Amino acid sequence: MCGIVAYFGRKPAQPILIEGLKRLEYRGYDSAGLALLEHSDFSIYKTPGRIANLEVILPVPPQKAVLGIGHTRWATHGQPNTTNAHPHVDYTGKIALVHNGIIENYATLKKWLIKEGCTFKSETDTEVAANLIGYFYSKNQTRDGRGCPSECDRFEWAVQQAINEIVGTFGLAILCRDCPETLIGVKKGSPLILGVGKNEFIIASDASAIIEHTSQAVYLSDGEMVTICRDSFSTKTLSNETVDAELKEIEISLDQIELEGFSHYMQKEIAEQPASLETCLNGRIDLKNGRVVLGGIQSRLRELTRTKRIILTACGTAWHAGLVGEFLFEQLARIPAEVEYASEFRYRNPILEEGTVVIAISQSGETADTLAAIEQAKERGATVLGAVNVVGSTIARMTDAGVYLRVGPEIGVASTKAFTAQVAVLSMLAIELGRRRHLSNDVAEGLLKELVAIPNKIKSILTQSEIIRDIAAANVDRENWLFLGRGFNYPVALEGALKLKEISYIHAEGLPAAEMKHGPIALITDGMPAVFIATRCAQYDKIIGNIEEVRARGGRTIVVATEGDEQIRPYADHVIYIPDTCDYFQPLLTVVPLQILAYHAAVLHGHDVDKPRNLAKSVTVE
Ligand code: AGP
Repeated sequence: MCGIVAYFGRKPAQPILIEGLKRLEYRGYDSAGLALLEHSDFSIYKTPGRIANLEVILPVPPQKAVLGIGHTRWATHGQPNTTNAHPHVDYTGKIALVHNGIIENYATLKKWLIKEGCTFKSETDTEVAANLIGYFYSKNQTRDGRGCPSECDRFEWAVQQAINEIVGTFGLAILCRDCPETLIGVKKGSPLILGVGKNEFIIASDASAIIEHTSQAVYLSDGEMVTICRDSFSTKTLSNETVDAELKEIEISLDQIELEGFSHYMQKEIAEQPASLETCLNGRIDLKNGRVVLGGIQSRLRELTRTKRIILTACGTAWHAGLVGEFLFEQLARIPAEVEYASEFRYRNPILEEGTVVIAISQSGETADTLAAIEQAKERGATVLGAVNVVGSTIARMTDAGVYLRVGPEIGVASTKAFTAQVAVLSMLAIELGRRRHLSNDVAEGLLKELVAIPNKIKSILTQSEIIRDIAAANVDRENWLFLGRGFNYPVALEGALKLKEISYIHAEGLPAAEMKHGPIALITDGMPAVFIATRCAQYDKIIGNIEEVRARGGRTIVVATEGDEQIRPYADHVIYIPDTCDYFQPLLTVVPLQILAYHAAVLHGHDVDKPRNLAKSVTVE
């Protein structure tokens, strides 16, 4: 996934593009660049590495150009170097563009374009798009084949012709040297938003690059393009039909995307969880009647209550939340449920019986594999619901109905507050479906009362950050860790392992604790850290046995336990105490110390916590 930003207004574009790229850097950060257009001339600046590297090569004072495009990259084709960095200019030198997404048929197109006399400099798929537009632009035609009434019309036509040849996903921002008063944006499968300010326009991959300039935005739909001229814009389809643009209020605020005194976004987002969970739950729980009100899917609740099977599909952390959801739907609503990796589900030709409901879980709402899984489910006639954080994202718009997580922008690549919100949404849904099927009002009320008490319980865990930091410091030199849990804490063991892996680069494996003796116990070496989630729950005694198995072989046990449990002490080299809650809601609490542990391990290793190597916040490629 990459970040693209473009500006056309009355102010110098250079600083605005740089600030916008910094807001988008979490989307990809292996190379960066920008192109300015002034007096029908391009100024192109590109570099490997972070935005900071790009700033070093920019002119001071900034150029006066008021039109430009910028890009921060997560490499899909071609190494992160200057040649492959965006923007890419076509072989005629007339067209410059930045791209987020993947062009699947780039090799075929490249071969054809070379035969047509085009030249290439980079290994990227993006340069194919630039050359394709340049090729059609050089044909100097318009839709009816006659001479072009204006360069701008010719530019639009060339973009439409080129895009209709491309198979894949893209968000594009495009300039043409002959049209120094025109900026074109195109959306197909990757996010693109148009910010509409006072005599200025911003195109960006997400609202965080727009919000400090305007709160008015047009969320482009797939297959739409926007042409921005000096003080106006028009939206149309790629077959040139006019589209009435709908201006919407951007729902995030500037302070939500600022660090606000924290050292990292991940640290801030872990600390936000009491508040973000309250926001996620607010207005959705009617304690008096033991009811849940999820506006976005209210119309689907009857169908959901009767469904024979629920399939949850997602990737990464969202998949772990889906595994918790599977247990919740089965235990609270007694509905058969299973969680599927979206990347597997999409290729498995799955059997979806009549009445199956699919729930897609995604923080970004742009994950390519999850999008493809949704398409598969829809092709098979399933009702598809979404549990998504980013408002107006592609998944939010593709699904038949859905529930927003409402936790605000999650900027740290490692997902934290989105995970607890995903589990909270699934918990609310499972309770409501259970109540409609067999749960008594009293039980439903009791569960909802406990659910609304969770945010406060998280607060007490956050106060233990220093204790957890010391535990991380005592074990951070170890190269292989195990994370073990049972029942509702098994998915949390998987999530804890993923958190450690993705930001501290320490190898870690999450397992159902009972699985140890079926092989992994052979891994235990002297001093090897094994993180056990051994809170008061149905399988507490069993997990004590698993802890003893590890200790007997010299493993070092880090145990997450329930406050007041003194019985656990002899089994633990380190204990992290957390408040008690029912089995169903344990993941909302037990995950927090593991998030904090991973955070401190990454900081102790001196890694960039918010932008870990090789990763991006949302994987919009396959
Ligand atoms: C989790 O910390 C990772 N950032 C990653 O596994 C992420 O959860 C996954 O890529 C799914 O992203 P999504 O929720 O935006 O679809």
